Amino acid sequence: MAETLHIPYHLLTFVLFHLALFASSSYSVSFGFYATSCPTAEIIVKNTVREASSLDPTLPGKLLRLVFHDCFVEGCDASILLQGNGTERSDPANSFLGGFSIIDSAKRVLEFFCPGTVSCADILALAARDAVEFAGGPSVLIPTGRRDGRISLASNVRPNIIDTSFTMDQMLKIFSAKGLSLDDLVTLSGAHTIGSAHCNAFMDRFKVDSKGNFTLIDSSLDREYAAQLTKRCPGGAAATSPTTDNDPETPNLFDNQYYKDLLAHKGLFQSDSVLVSDKRTISKVQNFANNQDSFFESWEQSFLRLTSIGVKIDNEGEVRQLCAVVN
Ligand code: HEM
Repeated sequence: MAETLHIPYHLLTFVLFHLALFASSSYSVSFGFYATSCPTAEIIVKNTVREASSLDPTLPGKLLRLVFHDCFVEGCDASILLQGNGTERSDPANSFLGGFSIIDSAKRVLEFFCPGTVSCADILALAARDAVEFAGGPSVLIPTGRRDGRISLASNVRPNIIDTSFTMDQMLKIFSAKGLSLDDLVTLSGAHTIGSAHCNAFMDRFKVDSKGNFTLIDSSLDREYAAQLTKRCPGGAAATSPTTDNDPETPNLFDNQYYKDLLAHKGLFQSDSVLVSDKRTISKVQNFANNQDSFFESWEQSFLRLTSIGVKIDNEGEVRQLCAVVN
């Protein structure tokens, strides 16, 4: 008696994607890479992220942004974690990144239990994955085995990181150079459903003169929302505090509210609002705004692709002893 095996469509595509990924190349990261060498590796990272995020709800956003800025520059190789003059981390475009100390904490515990085994690049990817899950998002199975890079150059940051003033075509150019699609752009921008931003990231969308008169410069932004934003930035664009929630409705929850915000013209950055004004992306935004499951299914696949960019294996990299310095 044959039983019918019911496999959900998204699970099937997920499995097929992985089969294709691993059959087609010499890519030797794998699921459960540390199963024998350090069986508690993923649990240690998850516990570190959970404990720290319970104390500091701003942490998940920081960890998620950190992996994006790592993977887009030199691949997912923890090059963003290296300290020193002229490193990626020292570039002004990365000045508001955070979450470094949590990666260091997880690394310390891992070095105690499994010395010289778990790479900082894996810790970073796992921590971002766990941060999303902690904030209420989907939990994603990701392969491990990334090696840590030895190169980190500030000069590589600007050509690879997207500025809020970019047009859709400029954003797509960078995404496609990383092997990511238009759909990945819409999906991964959903990361802005958590976390916060400094005034300089959106202050050019409106202005307030010395008499307090408010002018909306970017008409794709809701006027009332823009007026509220001005109150968050009394010091103007240069103000480094306070920060503003990326998602004004459910700031710490990883959900599909970001897409609802976009449709209400409350995308915080110009690069968010573009997703609604461009006819290539509006239908995806609408779909995600109406269907959180659809967003989460896409997220699982896009996040997997993000954390697979330019991964180093074997002697292309090393397992650092300390995440902030090469061995
Ligand atoms: C597509 C173009 C993107 C642009 C132009 C962009 C730009 C920015 C900017 C300007 C901030 C505010 C930083 C600050 O002032 O502290 C920010 C925050 C953030 N971004 Fe993006 N971003 C983009 C895509 C992404 C992607 C793909 C991810 C992750 C998958 C991501 C995750 C985040 C997160 C989580 C925050 C909040 C950080 C925190 O709370 O400290 N962003 N982004």
